Amino acid sequence: MCGIVGYTGQRQAYPIVLKGLKRLEYRGYDSSGVALLKDKHLKVFKKKGKVAELEESLIGTDIDANIGIGHTRWATHGEPSDRNAHPHTSKSGRIAMIHNGIIENYALIKQDLLKKGYSFTSDTDTEVLLNFIEDIQTNNDCTVEEALRIALKRVTGAYCILLIEQDNPDTIIAARKGSPLVIGIGKGEHFLASDASPIIEYTKEVVYVNDYELAIVKPDELVLKNLGNEKVTPFVTKLDMDLAAIEKGGYDHFMIKEIFEQPSTIFDCLRGRLDVKEGSIKMSGVDDNIEQLLNANRIMIIACGTSWHAGLVAEYIIEELCRIPVEVEYASEFRYRNPIVNKGDVIIAISQSGETADTIVALEKAKENGAFIFGVVNAVGSSIARISNAGAYTHAGPEIGVASTKAFTGQLAVLMMVALNIAKHKKTISQEKYDGLIKELQLVPEKVDAILKNADEIKAIAEKYKDASDFLFLGRGYNFPIALEGALKLKEISYIHAEGYPAAEMKHGPIALVDETLPVVFIATNDAYHEKIVSNMQEIKARKGRIISIITEGDSISKELSEDAFAIPATDEIIAPLLTVIPLQLLSYYVGTAKGIDVDKPRNLAKSVTVE
Ligand code: M6R
Repeated sequence: MCGIVGYTGQRQAYPIVLKGLKRLEYRGYDSSGVALLKDKHLKVFKKKGKVAELEESLIGTDIDANIGIGHTRWATHGEPSDRNAHPHTSKSGRIAMIHNGIIENYALIKQDLLKKGYSFTSDTDTEVLLNFIEDIQTNNDCTVEEALRIALKRVTGAYCILLIEQDNPDTIIAARKGSPLVIGIGKGEHFLASDASPIIEYTKEVVYVNDYELAIVKPDELVLKNLGNEKVTPFVTKLDMDLAAIEKGGYDHFMIKEIFEQPSTIFDCLRGRLDVKEGSIKMSGVDDNIEQLLNANRIMIIACGTSWHAGLVAEYIIEELCRIPVEVEYASEFRYRNPIVNKGDVIIAISQSGETADTIVALEKAKENGAFIFGVVNAVGSSIARISNAGAYTHAGPEIGVASTKAFTGQLAVLMMVALNIAKHKKTISQEKYDGLIKELQLVPEKVDAILKNADEIKAIAEKYKDASDFLFLGRGYNFPIALEGALKLKEISYIHAEGYPAAEMKHGPIALVDETLPVVFIATNDAYHEKIVSNMQEIKARKGRIISIITEGDSISKELSEDAFAIPATDEIIAPLLTVIPLQLLSYYVGTAKGIDVDKPRNLAKSVTVE
């Protein structure tokens, strides 16, 4: 939610900030803006709409400056508009600030400031915080840095803020709590951003700022401090990412590029871990903590959205293979109820971004109660990766399309390996079954590749059904969460109402929706439930529903029952979700693009949900 960029150095700031905002647009795209500082003169430009609209509006404008900050917004307080766009300027016009997060007690602070005669030009919590800082500075006759520190001790909520001030013409002051901030270290220059993508083309040396830290950033100097004004030593890490990974590489959209990357991202995820010859899975996060995992009273999986669906697949697999009770929780529910968490519980946190606010808070709560946190995270060095006691990265590379695709299959692959690893140590799986499953897992990249070669078949199906107003997705067993995922993907990318259901549960309500206009997508691969799901298909057919099915190659029974069928290679039912989800990702992509939707930036969504 919201992307922020900053630059201070010898180069022109605007092109760097603008390019960075384009890279961060996946975090929010309802308005954007920049503030530039030149000769103690602040210039602020902002515009409703995508970053390209801001760029267009600034053609011919004087944007000369060597220091600047920029913001791309996902609205929380106040509608998307020019006036609510960031940066905001303080009452005196001396300070400009951008913010990613939510100041929860902003209303009370605003009341006080209104009494003092302040007025506001926007509806945002950010403008309130900024004037609060300026008010503290005026009353205490202190520096902006000092005022910021005092203000941050009095606000609740989450923030990553960058500010520049007229009287400090080469300095960006930044602070973070709950929303990410990375600082890139160049030669005589520094780059600041919500993630590393705006930085990677200039430097690979970065510092991840921690919660409750302030950064005072000049071209030649980076000082980190805590809120107690004590210096903190910056920990410099090297980015393991290249530029190609964050560019479209000839594809029309990031989403389709990321779908087609899956043979290699799944391969990368398995590489160095799965060894079929040796019959082993090596994962240091599991191996180094095996006692903790083997002795778990239960496993709780905490996640949101697509990551939560990966958690549901993992529940079925871990209970089957490891015989450990598993509960899967929405992070947003877990954090506000009074859950029972004890020492000896293992929490698996699943997150692509590693920055989802609800998941972070839920994990902190579980950690306080003594739970052991195992993170399954894609974004290296992210908050959730750092909160976790141990974990395994999904190695899917940067995922830019708002709809999660390759990160999901990375999560499934990691969770399958974790389950197999625990089961082997716990001796709850036979050697034969274990060997068979790791062989099948090894074959997934080439089977995904085979599915993608037939993407045009899905494209034709998408064209045929794109005008439907509703879709139903049905699956059973390991494929039930894939039905949920198929429905979520279609909703977010095509704006078509879709529901995912366990196929048998459909009789308890959703069957009332079925008529000759309703497309019903069955995930009906050959598994222990196959006969049962064939009966469910008969029930839909009897009511004239339009059946689209994902079937195993050679399954003529399901094919005959379907108006359209897409065949995937055979595999073990435990591994099947890694294959069955691919045609559903393609279906949502092709329906979305056929409807002319900007699938990488669908309305109202943001890639990284850093607000609750
Ligand atoms: O970064 P996370 O995996 O924690 O994000 C969780 C959800 O916000 C995310 O999966 C969301 O549902 C996606 N838009 C799904 O495509």
